[in-house]
Amino acid sequence: MTTQAAPRASVQAQADLALRVENISKRYGAFHALRSINLGIRRGSIHGLLGENGAGKSTLVGIISGQRAPSEGRIFLNGEEIQGADVKRMEAAGVFLVPQEPMIIEHMSVMENLMLGLWPASRGFIAWRRMRENATRMLAGTGIEADRLAGSLDAVARRKLNILRAMFSGGSVIILDEPTASLTVPDRLQLFDFMRQLRASGVTFLFISHFNDEILDICDAVTVLRDGELVANCEEVGSLNSSRLSEFVLGRELDLFQRDRTLSPKGEEGIRLSGVRGDRLDVARLDIRTGEIVGFTGLPGEGAKELARSLFGLAPLQAGQIAFAREATARVPQTPDQAFAMGIAYLSDDRRRDGVVGHLSIRENIALSSLRQRIRRGLVDRGQEQQVCSSYFTRMGIKAGSADEAVNTLSGGNQQKVCLGRVLATMPRLLILDEPTRGIDVGVKQDVLRILDQLSRAGVSVIIVSTDVDELARAADRVCIFQRGRIAHVVEGDDISTDRLRQLSQ
Ligand SMILES: Nc1ncnc2c1ncn2[C@@H]1O[C@H](COP(=O)(O)OP(=O)(O)OP(=O)(O)O)[C@@H](O)[C@H]1O
Ligand SMILES: [Mg+2]
Repeated sequence: MTTQAAPRASVQAQADLALRVENISKRYGAFHALRSINLGIRRGSIHGLLGENGAGKSTLVGIISGQRAPSEGRIFLNGEEIQGADVKRMEAAGVFLVPQEPMIIEHMSVMENLMLGLWPASRGFIAWRRMRENATRMLAGTGIEADRLAGSLDAVARRKLNILRAMFSGGSVIILDEPTASLTVPDRLQLFDFMRQLRASGVTFLFISHFNDEILDICDAVTVLRDGELVANCEEVGSLNSSRLSEFVLGRELDLFQRDRTLSPKGEEGIRLSGVRGDRLDVARLDIRTGEIVGFTGLPGEGAKELARSLFGLAPLQAGQIAFAREATARVPQTPDQAFAMGIAYLSDDRRRDGVVGHLSIRENIALSSLRQRIRRGLVDRGQEQQVCSSYFTRMGIKAGSADEAVNTLSGGNQQKVCLGRVLATMPRLLILDEPTRGIDVGVKQDVLRILDQLSRAGVSVIIVSTDVDELARAADRVCIFQRGRIAHVVEGDDISTDRLRQLSQ
């Protein structure tokens, strides 16, 4: 591992590079998002890019793909300098970016989205037909129908579609900005298979992830950024391990969280769900104790996400009852407003659709839901609002000059922290979180799990919907694995391990 860029690579080594950046810097006003980055990516390799939320990863790949202009520096593709790079130019040169937040054209079909801007280079019609055939075959293995309107896809399917488009682009350099966030285990394996196949044919990848195990599994080389600087570069990933990677990312040792399950709530008191039936949902009974953390997991469409959404009134049910301790049984809420009034809060996995309000400040975004709650009660205490927001701003380590900055200047992971802070600030009775640490870095993930632990000890019942089995193993008292709309397995206490969950949820 070198902690500085090599002074001058040999001529041969330079010829082996698909991509090289020289002294790349990016400033936003007085803020340095990147400082003099020097980096070479070997042709036909998978190169990992790691760093905390706000370290500068998306900024760097944004510059390489022509989406953002650097303040200084040069980009070389196959040894040739690219000047005034923009997205069109870079895509024509074979550089494709799959952005952190999926981008699709909502009113077009899946197939049209997949083929977007990819024109057959030669032999016109024949090549075009072959491309369509290939695309159909590729889609067949993913469970996404070719003719479906892309706007109707859920967050995971949108992400998959973006990845497929890049894989299909014929590009020679493919950049994936956190492609695996909220993908299931089989989806990840499928993606890694694609990547290995394409690497064998000479395609170069730049791969951003907050999962150390993925970096160790798929990458040949890795670069770590911290606060806009390149702090480590390693051409031999085999010589590293997960805790070493975390140390490079954080600049200190990672303090892993583990919930103390000997303190898990016992007894009957809590929330009872019964007779829940929907389109693809059939849960006869589920009891969640007061202060319990329950994980929901399983393959997409099998019911984990569907039940969570239904409980917040986002997906209609044919039937279903909910009873909070010592209260009468009621119908499962049919709208988010009803759910909210019952004391249920929900974090969606789709930040673009129902996430942050970009032009508002961090403080305003955190205050949004709890403000509504307090207006309902007829009082808005500005002092209290300030205090709650500042507390989450600090506890979640949101990287920004102050809580008054606009949310749309924050990095992806920091926006996710704002969404989470907003939901936590409502202090509900039942907190439902869909992929709560998606896109959040290794250090802050542990902080989030600690906050959930504290909230639960204060009596909040929590449902975590997650494909991140490590997160469930660290935070949950009990994990429900969904299959065909039912709870097929329940793993509890000491039986919860990442291996067991992985095995049951495939
Ligand atoms: N338009 C902008 N104006 C001001 N600051 C910005 C702007 N865009 C990005 N930044 C800042 O640049 C820094 C780097 O952001 P970047 O999105 O590259 O981080 P990242 O490493 O991708 O983080 P994450 O893991 O959260 O996605 C952040 O501190 C961010 O707030
Ligand atoms: Mg990013």
